[in-house]
Amino acid sequence: MAISAIKGFNDILPGEVEKWQHIEAVAREVFRCYGFSEIRVPIMEKTELFSRSIGDATDIVEKEMYSFIDKGENKVTLRPEGTAGVMRALIEQKLYVSDPVSKLYYMGPMFRYERPQKGRYRQFHQIGAEVTGVSDPKVDAQVLTMLCNFFQRLGLHEPSMEINSLGCPECRPAYREALKQFLRNHLSELCEDCRRRLETNPLRALDCKSEGCKVATKDAPAMIDALCSECDTHFAAVKDYLASVGTEYRINSRMVRGLDYYTRTTFEVVTGLLGSQSAVAAGGRYDGLISDLGGPAIPGIGFAMGVERVALLLDSAEFKTAPDLFIVALGEAAQKKAFTLAADLQRSGAAVELDYEGKSMKSQMRRADKLAATFTLIIGETELTSGKAPLKEMSSGLQNEINLDTDTVLSLIKRR
Ligand code: HAM
Repeated sequence: MAISAIKGFNDILPGEVEKWQHIEAVAREVFRCYGFSEIRVPIMEKTELFSRSIGDATDIVEKEMYSFIDKGENKVTLRPEGTAGVMRALIEQKLYVSDPVSKLYYMGPMFRYERPQKGRYRQFHQIGAEVTGVSDPKVDAQVLTMLCNFFQRLGLHEPSMEINSLGCPECRPAYREALKQFLRNHLSELCEDCRRRLETNPLRALDCKSEGCKVATKDAPAMIDALCSECDTHFAAVKDYLASVGTEYRINSRMVRGLDYYTRTTFEVVTGLLGSQSAVAAGGRYDGLISDLGGPAIPGIGFAMGVERVALLLDSAEFKTAPDLFIVALGEAAQKKAFTLAADLQRSGAAVELDYEGKSMKSQMRRADKLAATFTLIIGETELTSGKAPLKEMSSGLQNEINLDTDTVLSLIKRR
C-alpha cells in the first residue's frame, strides 16, 4: 500500500506554491523597507526553551508540542513558534553587543499537535519579525504599520487590526487576582477547561469560545482598565502614533493571546473569511522574555503570520507561471534545432518549453496551450531551409515570420 503523509502535514504543490513564493517575496520586500535582516534558526530546540518562554500553563506547552527524547537522551521539541528560538540565538550569539537594536525576520515551518481543519494544521508555516532593544511606543506603532503595509501590498484589505494592552509585572498581578475573583463568582457557568485553568491561566476565560464562558465573562474586568500609569501612557502613545500614520485599528480588550511572554501591546490581524481560524497574524511586546531566558534586560516586540491562512485569502490563478515560448518542432533536424535554440534562450533568461518525444504538431500545440505559453514558434524542414519561422502570440493569434536566430527570437518574446 502506498504511504500517505502524516495527518496535518501538507504538500504544497506547483500551482499553489507560486502564491507562497509571492507572499514570501512581498514580505522580504516590506521587511527591507523597515530595515529587517533575515535570521535562520534551527527547527528543533531544547524542550525547556519553549516551556520557559511560552509558559507551562499554555495549550501549546501543555498539549501541542512535538517533543521527544533523542538518542542522546536529550529532551527536544520541534519548534511550535519562532520567537523563542530567535531570542535564544540573540542571547547565545550576543547579537545585542554589536547593535543594541536588532530587527530580525524569519520564515519557515512550525509544529503544533492541534486538531487539523481549514486554516489549522500540524505543520504550518510562519513569517515572523522581531525587534529587540527598544521599548519606545514608536516601535510598536511601526511594527503594526509594517504588518498592515504587508497586507495592503498583497492587495488584501479585508483583514483588520485589533490591539490590546496586557500590562506589565507591575499591574497585571492585581488584575489577575481581580479577574480570578470575578471568575470564582461565575464558576458554575464556566466550561471545564476554564474552571481547570482558573488558578494557573485565568485570562484564557476571556477568549474562550464556549457560549457559557462568553456569557459569564461579559462584564468581567478588562486589563486595559487596570493598567498602571506607565503602561497606560505607553498604550496611549501607541494609539497616537498609529493615528499619526493612518494605521487603522480596533481595541479588543478581550484579546489575551495564547503565549505567556507578552507584556503591554498585543495585536491580531483578523479576517472574517476563514471561519473559526480568524487570526491571520498575531504578536505583541515581550519586555521580560529575554531576561527570563537568561539574557540581559532587553525589551522586544514582534509578530508572526500564518502563511497558509494568508494563502487562503489569495486567489491561486493570479500567480500561475507560464513559459514565454513553446517551440513546436517537426522532424528530427527541427527537433535538434529546437533543442539548441531553447538552450540559448534559457541561458539568456527566457522561459522556454519544447517537446521531447517527437509528438504530432497537434499534440505539441495542445501542450503549448495547456502550459499557457505566451508565444509559439513552429519549426519544420521548410523553416530550417529558409531560416525563417512563424512566431505566434497565443492571446491575440497574431503571427509573424521571423528570422530563426536566438537574438531575434529573444528580442521578440521578451519585448512585452
Ligand atoms: P501565535 O498567535 O501562536 O503567535 O501564531 C501566530 C500565527 O500563526 C497565528 O495568527 C496563525 O495565523 C498562525 N498559526 C498558529 N497556529 C497555526 C496552525 N496550527 N495552523 C496554521 N496556522 C497557525 C506566535 O506564534 C508568536 N510567536 C507570534 C509573535 C512573534 N509574537 C511576538 N513575536
